[in-house]
Amino acid sequence: MFSNLKEKPADKILALGQAFREDPRDTKIDLGVGVYKDAEGKTPIMRAVKAAEQKWWGQEETKAYTGLAGDPAFSDVMINLVLGDAVTRDQVAAVATPGGTGAVRQAFDLVRMANPDARVFVSDPTWPNHLSILAYLGVETVMYRYFDSETVGVDFDGMMADLEAVRAGDVVLLHGCCHNPTGANLNLSQWKEVIDLLIRKGAVPMIDIAYQGFGDGLEEDAKATRLVVKSCPEVLIAASCSKNFGIYRERTGILMAVAQDRGLQKVAQGNLAYLNRQNFSFPPDHGARLVTMVLSDDALRADWQSELEEVRLGMLQLRQDLANELRRLSGSDRFGFIAQHRGMFSRLGATPEQVETLRKDHGIYMIGDSRINIAGLNAQTVPILARAIIDAGV
Ligand code: LMR
Repeated sequence: MFSNLKEKPADKILALGQAFREDPRDTKIDLGVGVYKDAEGKTPIMRAVKAAEQKWWGQEETKAYTGLAGDPAFSDVMINLVLGDAVTRDQVAAVATPGGTGAVRQAFDLVRMANPDARVFVSDPTWPNHLSILAYLGVETVMYRYFDSETVGVDFDGMMADLEAVRAGDVVLLHGCCHNPTGANLNLSQWKEVIDLLIRKGAVPMIDIAYQGFGDGLEEDAKATRLVVKSCPEVLIAASCSKNFGIYRERTGILMAVAQDRGLQKVAQGNLAYLNRQNFSFPPDHGARLVTMVLSDDALRADWQSELEEVRLGMLQLRQDLANELRRLSGSDRFGFIAQHRGMFSRLGATPEQVETLRKDHGIYMIGDSRINIAGLNAQTVPILARAIIDAGV
């Protein structure tokens, strides 16, 4: 049987991490996978998460299964964190999932189950795993223009023109904030135009929000998602706790389906629970428990928010420093976009050959499309990267 299997291409983001680990140079710089790192290059456990974990260790009385949807208290706090009061709780079906990827996978599964003819529109570019999961599930995928490599910003006219091809029942995947891989985001008035188009076409928005709190702030980053759920009759939202709670390996995410009325919400809830059962039965509980504890306790929540804000501001400072250094070295403003982009990532606009040169000659690792993880930098490495970017002719 196994002889029938074909080699699978390695995931590009994860393969880069492997190549980095194997590089013996001690001057190497890892700007690859989207994991937050502090100035010492460590991915810390957040203070409030650690405190919740210590508390939970003393309190936990059983390891018996949770429900198929996970603990309802986790859904409550996450719906509140992401959607605020944009909808009423009884409009939202929700299940805990293994990470944001689990939520994305379950969402695509749900789309296929609800409407086998639905096509999923994704931004060009998008997180590569979106495309990989859609292909794996056999869901027809259509790319819409998103990134203008000339302006290194959003190609909004191109995006709107391509979304005109959307049909009723199609799904349009949007990044709620901090677009991955480009770092270029829609402003709120552009979101409104997209929403109007989706409503006019009868298409269903699906929002992937994996970086809430990494862009313009916890509330700011949720604004677009809230606007969508306020305006559109049905919305899917895949949210991740990996980055903003720093609990990557705990696999903590949630899939929400916002419905028009209580009847449809119940059907959606049953289907989401069914999908969990088919794919893995019960979602992991530990990370979800920590998130619930942090968000339900005033002191822990305040501490988490202030640490998250430090992380966000630190990344913004690195963006500003890199843009300044590149302005100094290039004598031009052509890298000013780095300070405008938001979230962990920026796409630099380097060619694959330049990316390769940066890796070979300078030990600087970025994704092949020239996406850099800003959090992989620190005060010492910003000038090194800037110099290398100029030397590579970017
Ligand atoms: C990334 O884009 O680097 C992250 O979302 C991590 C991953 O799983 O790819």
